[in-house]
Amino acid sequence: MKKTWLDGKTFIISGASSGIGKGIAEKLIIKHGCKVIGIGRNENKFIDFSAKLGENAKLLTYRTFDVTDENEWKNLAKDLEKDGIRPDGIINCAGILPRFKKALDTETEDVIKVTETNFFSCVYSINATYPLISRSDTPAIVNVSSAAALATIVGTSAYSAAKSALKSYTEALIYELKGKAYVSLVMPGFARTDIFRSQNTSIDENKLIKNLSMPAYKTVNAIHRGIKRKKTRIIIGKDAHAMNFFYRLFPKFTMGAIKKVLKGSKLKLFEDVFCDD
Ligand SMILES: NC(=O)c1ccc[n+]([C@@H]2O[C@H](COP(=O)([O-])OP(=O)(O)OC[C@H]3O[C@@H](n4cnc5c(N)ncnc54)[C@H](OP(=O)(O)O)[C@@H]3O)[C@@H](O)[C@H]2O)c1
Repeated sequence: MKKTWLDGKTFIISGASSGIGKGIAEKLIIKHGCKVIGIGRNENKFIDFSAKLGENAKLLTYRTFDVTDENEWKNLAKDLEKDGIRPDGIINCAGILPRFKKALDTETEDVIKVTETNFFSCVYSINATYPLISRSDTPAIVNVSSAAALATIVGTSAYSAAKSALKSYTEALIYELKGKAYVSLVMPGFARTDIFRSQNTSIDENKLIKNLSMPAYKTVNAIHRGIKRKKTRIIIGKDAHAMNFFYRLFPKFTMGAIKKVLKGSKLKLFEDVFCDD
């Protein structure tokens, strides 16, 4: 296979125990012989992942902790330094999507949890590990935001706000570290993963979402392609591209149209959002 800048590198990947993060970790290990330090909470998921990797399992190590705990990130960085492990990059992929509901029905503690998991965890991880990563000859930071940061979807106020914060933060990093590090902002549309586990119905029962969404492996392939080419902005899926295009040209119309389509679809997935409209 053609040589790429990714070959043989060491990456820290949060959310590597499942879904998109696991898919990216697997690609980097199998296609590029990368070493991956996976972060997640559930050890059993990592044990299964290791078993799936077979002889490549030696390239995966993992730490189980809650990404919202800044001290855990500081301890990780200290341990890597102590053990002489030099990460070349970090991919922040851990995230949660709470059940779709109106902003005013969302408890403050849920907004805080979503923001800590989807945004602050990335600030903590980058602040703690960048001093090590910056010593690499190819330093890299990849933050997985969402199409929800391109155009807000009604019923996802906290999620969209946290992913928008991550988008702005990453855009600042892209320009502040230009010439020093590769920084990328990833904005996928709907992908079929376990992230929908908090919803009141399976997404497979929703024809609209099923048609709009991508199989997780396609999202992973697109992220892998983008990172390989050092793209700083990776938008994935027809839904994400449409949101990006229309919101930039007609923001008010697009927001209204998204609401109309979701309300008109009468999907169980959005019943809490439109219950008394
Ligand atoms: N799927 C989509 O449609 C979609 C669309 C746009 C953006 N995204 C973004 O893509 C990323 C990956 O999502 P996914 O679809 O792959 O979801 P997923 O299958 O649910 O995976 C989420 C990962 O995040 C980890 N995680 C969550 N909270 C954590 C915490 N507090 N501490 C440590 N690890 C935590 C989970 O680990 P444990 O289970 O071990 O806790 C798991 O590995 C997320 O940031 C999500 O917002 C997804």
